[in-house]
Amino acid sequence: MTPSDGLRVAIMTDETGWHTARLKRAFRARGVEARCVDLADCRIDTTWAPYGLALPGFGHALPDAVFVRGIAGGTFEQVTLRLGILHALRECGVPVYNDARAIERSVDKSMTSFLLNRYGVPTPPTWAGESTAYAQRVLMREAALGRQVVLKPLFGSQGKGLRRLGASARTAASATSMLKPLPSLRTYQHVAYLQRYVDGGRRGFDWRVLVVGGRAVAAMRRVGGKGWIHNFAQGAACEPAALDDTLADSAVRATEALGLDYAGVDLIPDPDDAARPLVLEVNGVAAWRGLQSVTSLDIADALVADLLDRKLAASRAASIAPAPLVGGGHAGG
Ligand SMILES: Nc1ncnc2c1ncn2[C@@H]1O[C@H](COP(=O)(O)OP(=O)(O)O)[C@@H](O)[C@H]1O
Ligand SMILES: [Mg+2]
Repeated sequence: MTPSDGLRVAIMTDETGWHTARLKRAFRARGVEARCVDLADCRIDTTWAPYGLALPGFGHALPDAVFVRGIAGGTFEQVTLRLGILHALRECGVPVYNDARAIERSVDKSMTSFLLNRYGVPTPPTWAGESTAYAQRVLMREAALGRQVVLKPLFGSQGKGLRRLGASARTAASATSMLKPLPSLRTYQHVAYLQRYVDGGRRGFDWRVLVVGGRAVAAMRRVGGKGWIHNFAQGAACEPAALDDTLADSAVRATEALGLDYAGVDLIPDPDDAARPLVLEVNGVAAWRGLQSVTSLDIADALVADLLDRKLAASRAASIAPAPLVGGGHAGG
């Protein structure tokens, strides 16, 4: 028997495969029954006592904890409802890993940039707004300084939809006359999210660091891919990387800034300061297949251990702690 024997966990996902198999195995090894649930199949139902929340396979009960592995895209309303289910679970006292509030912050790249900057985590200058004229002005200003910018979909992932704009270093002298124009924002849902391009040179790479429960536990270098876009999904090769203090510290602080339990943090060397990696992006629903191929750490096991031993344990301790006394502890008047 282990302390987690008999627990039931929901893995929220719209597709089963390598990641969910790994997670299920890690939960099973701890005597926990894990079941995959599609958020799209969950319902808010105020007649469904006692919680008003129905998850397939759980009857009128709720899981002891939830692991969020995937949230399918959809209409604004569909995604709102799916995230709402995660918010509702938290309101019912179920530990959700990662919490919906933190997932929302990390999915929205502009909020990520805002929070990183507020928290003092080094990240490239970033601009987000709805006006094409504003985006054009940012582009012109950066180009006049001989810089390029990256236009990204606000909710993008896997290196899809990224465009590098502006004059290349070679044409910087005549930068503004050689500008690659801003594409129509229609394909970007009418939002311009622009980040200063960080030039990695011909042998460019970036880092992916996995942070679990406040600790950086694994890192890799992603080399190659699609030109300057080094995502695993774009064909980058994964190489093991040493987790030095600056890399670990930046990744941990980025994860804290967003309030995530665990995160896959993308970083790039700062060409102006070798001791200071820049955080490009923080993933709150991070895949780890590429990283698993270069580390001996069992990542699914590390995530499951953190959820059960830290997050769930803290939530149980809080629920049995005596309620704080109000008004100095005097019961009567
Ligand atoms: N500002 C930038 N400067 C240089 N390279 C970048 C920049 N932003 C993104 N990239 C490259 O593109 C990849 C994908 O960008 P990222 O912001 O992580 O979006 P996604 O959510 O699609 O992974 C990064 O891992 C990096 O290789
Ligand atoms: Mg990324």
